[in-house]
Amino acid sequence: MNRTAESPQHVVDPAARRRVLFICILASLAGLMCGMDIGVISGVLRPFGMEFHASTVALEWIVGGMLVGATIGALTGGQLTQRLGRKYTLTTAAAFFSIGAFGCAASQSIAMMIICRVLVGMGMGLSDFSTPLYLSEVARKEQRGAMVSLYQLLKTIGIFLAFFSNSWFASSGAWRSMLMVEAVPAIVFLVIFLFLPQSPRWLMIKGRKEEALQTMTRLRDAPAQAHKELQAIGEQLQTKEEGWKLLRTNSNYRRSLGLGMLLQIMQQFAGINIIMYYAPRILETAHFSLEAQMWCTALIGLVNVLMTFVAVGYSDRWGRKPILYAGYVSMAASMAILAFLLWYGTTSLSLQLLALGMIIIFVGGFAMSAGPLMWVICSEIQPAAGRSLGISISTGTNMLSNLLIGTTFLSVLELVGGPNTFWLFAGFNAIGVVLLYLFVPETKDVSLETIEERLMSGVKLRDLGR
Ligand code: BGC
Repeated sequence: MNRTAESPQHVVDPAARRRVLFICILASLAGLMCGMDIGVISGVLRPFGMEFHASTVALEWIVGGMLVGATIGALTGGQLTQRLGRKYTLTTAAAFFSIGAFGCAASQSIAMMIICRVLVGMGMGLSDFSTPLYLSEVARKEQRGAMVSLYQLLKTIGIFLAFFSNSWFASSGAWRSMLMVEAVPAIVFLVIFLFLPQSPRWLMIKGRKEEALQTMTRLRDAPAQAHKELQAIGEQLQTKEEGWKLLRTNSNYRRSLGLGMLLQIMQQFAGINIIMYYAPRILETAHFSLEAQMWCTALIGLVNVLMTFVAVGYSDRWGRKPILYAGYVSMAASMAILAFLLWYGTTSLSLQLLALGMIIIFVGGFAMSAGPLMWVICSEIQPAAGRSLGISISTGTNMLSNLLIGTTFLSVLELVGGPNTFWLFAGFNAIGVVLLYLFVPETKDVSLETIEERLMSGVKLRDLGR
């Protein structure tokens, strides 16, 4: 999110504003795809596992396969967005989503399911890297934060839709139908992405100045403004991307890389994805019936969508850190109470509802804070010359941590039991509060240039924004 001190000098044409919004919504459909692929698996595991007699480890790798692919996608995203451009990287992501999702729905073995989940994951990693980049390059400066958050919002909507459709098919155990629900929109989105305009910034990088001017003029509906923005891009492009060199030679850059990795590790170790992938299984531990498990999971998905609006609407007003503190404290407390309830036994309806309430508070706490805000801060703390590498590394770290949690959760649950597993996550979130205090800067109302200046002059990480 780029918030420089200047304010827009020109009056923005409402038609141009709507056009940009429309383009951003279309591109954000990639987030919807990611969300659906994250959400679908919680419904598929049980019926698929029963049909193929899958072991716990096999189930974990059906979850993990997607994350292996996502790590590969996130780490290659930088190269691909540079070579093919943002638009065709997005289209490639949609192709991976489509082929992977059809393959999953047609799976005849555990191995085929895992391989196709890797393909879906590659779409996810590419999309996680290229969509926010595309949005930030197409949107006007004043819209940029909101447009980047739109991606996370659509992701949560995708998760909710998948949870909802899982519930719909749950009683018949029709896991292939659950997966087909992801495959069909993937094809539609692929076609839609082909009609998106190229990013003007990428056209400039490639030296295609005429096309950049044409595209920017269409996006802004004001030739003078288009000229001005392209000139600014041209000036910025004088700063060459030299992330690898910086990594070797500049210890301050290593600090911002470390911070980006830490933020994403904190996000994943909060434990959100144990709920996203395994909510029905957790609810089963709390003695919910099969049908109740699925509908409660859909409710959890809805809370995830609604609470994301808090970050979208208030992180630029209240600041990132107060919201993050509130999120981590509520996540730590709800996980601790859930652990206690599972230890005590959820024997009555009121105790079951209390357990559900704790999961809802946990998901709400995440959705309003770490869910969107870790992505926002990660996009703000890297210096211009190392931004692409920095974001690629923090996104890869997110996927790897996600992989670690996703592929070990069921085994840990079986090994140490429900209560101890949730105590562990309560502990991770409590540590998160301390790490927030020690290392995380408040970046609200601070320009990216100021953050960079302070980083490079050795100011402590937590004070980068002050
Ligand atoms: C996280 C994902 C998670 C999603 C849930 C994102 O910010 O990176 O791992 O599944 O939020 O809404």
